[in-house]
Amino acid sequence: MTIPAALVGSAIEDIDTPALLLDLDLMERNIGRMTTAFQPLSAKLRPHAKTHKSPIIAHKQIAAGAIGITCAKVGEAEVMVEGGVRDILIANQIVGPQKIRRLVSLARHTDMMVAVDDLQNVKDLSEAAQAGKTLLRVLVEVNVGQNRCGVEPGEPALTLARQVAQAPGLTFAGLMGYEGHLVFVPSLEERVHRVHSDMQALIDTVNFIESSGLPVNIVSAGGTGTALITGRLPRITEIQAGSYVFMDGRYKTIEGVECDCVLTLLTTIISRPRPDHIIIDAGMKTLTHEFGLPRFKGCDELELLGLSEEHGTVKLNNQGGAYKPGEKIEIIPSHGDTTLNIHDYYYGVRNGRVETVWPIAARGKSRQKERT
Ligand SMILES: Cc1ncc(COP(=O)(O)O)c(C=O)c1O
Repeated sequence: MTIPAALVGSAIEDIDTPALLLDLDLMERNIGRMTTAFQPLSAKLRPHAKTHKSPIIAHKQIAAGAIGITCAKVGEAEVMVEGGVRDILIANQIVGPQKIRRLVSLARHTDMMVAVDDLQNVKDLSEAAQAGKTLLRVLVEVNVGQNRCGVEPGEPALTLARQVAQAPGLTFAGLMGYEGHLVFVPSLEERVHRVHSDMQALIDTVNFIESSGLPVNIVSAGGTGTALITGRLPRITEIQAGSYVFMDGRYKTIEGVECDCVLTLLTTIISRPRPDHIIIDAGMKTLTHEFGLPRFKGCDELELLGLSEEHGTVKLNNQGGAYKPGEKIEIIPSHGDTTLNIHDYYYGVRNGRVETVWPIAARGKSRQKERT
């Protein structure tokens, strides 16, 4: 993969499209804001790297005070480790002999934690950690209402925690309870209320496990919409928020997250077939839309009507505007994480110019780390 570094120093208009831009000033401000907001809290930030998939950005978050990085996949963690990140939580279940061997191999070179919610998986991790002559730190995932992974709070969590604590090669490090069903609740008041209510089961489980004599040192939870709510709860030690670093169109619609949209897709108008329509060179192969059709940056009169594979159809709501083929316009992705996963580079821009070009190093690493 050749990085188009020759563009460094060029004006934004000279970037060929469709291309992902990062507003570096805004990204630094988002990192700074979250860092400042966490300073008075006892919980620490361990940002989710699925949002950027870039060791460079992970290092910026760590330099600002994050205690490490969260990943979803072994392939992402491998890229982070190669990029020099040394403290990683895989906030997910790693199942199957190949992935478990890769996880154990990573644990020999860096500080790794992984989530579990199943006894057989605990046994498999334990066997592999022993074979790899390493110790793997494990968090028991508790279902706090998202109804995705996780054992139920209380007795089931205690049972699995004991099984982890007794498994050779594993260390029971604590619990994880991701309240993903609450991160997008639009009203701040309602979000606060529901987080307090649903996360009580996790806090009670921490106390219950400790009362049985097993220390629970780490309690990890939280996304961007809940970071500053969950991060203030007793017993929570780490927050996994990721999206705050870029924000995206969907996150921008909820109350109470003071961050700016950093990531945009630069597109070119390729046609103005009718006075009130333009066509852009971005479609479903460069822009995802499972969270709704994205909107344009700073152009309220433009409305994206639909995406085909390589085209976006846009309505000009004021019938006017001098939009001509060849002009470039920026879109704010509605879902940043899945959009950046189909791009190779970020063009980091400042004051209208390309300052840097970074590979999206862990993009597509849902299964493997091998590069094509
Ligand atoms: C387990 C887990 N933790 C944390 C996050 C980060 O959430 P956000 O993107 O809201 O910051 C996610 C997002 O999907 C997640 O799945």
